[in-house]
Amino acid sequence: MHIECTINGNERSFEVSKSDLLLDVLRQNGYTGAKRGCDTGACGMCTVQIDGEPTMSCITPVVKADGATIETVEGLGTQDDLHPVQQAFVDNSALQCGFCIPGMIMRSKALLEENPSPSEAEVREALSDNLCRCTGYKKIVEAVLEASERMGEQTVAADGGYSCRCEDTGLEVDSRGETDR
Ligand code: FES
Ligand code: FES
Repeated sequence: MHIECTINGNERSFEVSKSDLLLDVLRQNGYTGAKRGCDTGACGMCTVQIDGEPTMSCITPVVKADGATIETVEGLGTQDDLHPVQQAFVDNSALQCGFCIPGMIMRSKALLEENPSPSEAEVREALSDNLCRCTGYKKIVEAVLEASERMGEQTVAADGGYSCRCEDTGLEVDSRGETDR
């Protein structure tokens, strides 16, 4: 069967079988940011967003992606211009091997879109389905709380860019360095 969806802002179409799983289709088509951990819906390492909802792609039939908007970690920042959640993970040293991090970041991004100012308990609850085998969770939780603070001062644009207002000049500066004047 034929499905069409939007992945990270790009319209894509795929020939798939009804029994195919989203994680397999994503990884076969170059979206390898979503990791295969348990492959049974128990670790969260394959988490992507479908129409904004954090979703474990290893147990999601690809037919659910038909007509949907999918976001994977590849659609966030670049090496030179990280998304605020990615930057907070780096700044808080919230990773070791990194295998769980794409899923953690997509889950965290979804949380902050729904609840921009979560408490520590709410962050821990939101991340409770995402396992990390080496970092522990303290720094990850701290990173999400810091991202929340930073994003509170920034406006995330529809194109994934973001902007903030400079306290000194009053100018709005976006992630491409452009101002509102
Ligand atoms: S790989 Fe999907 S939940 Fe573990
Ligand atoms: S950083 Fe290694 S599994 Fe989380």
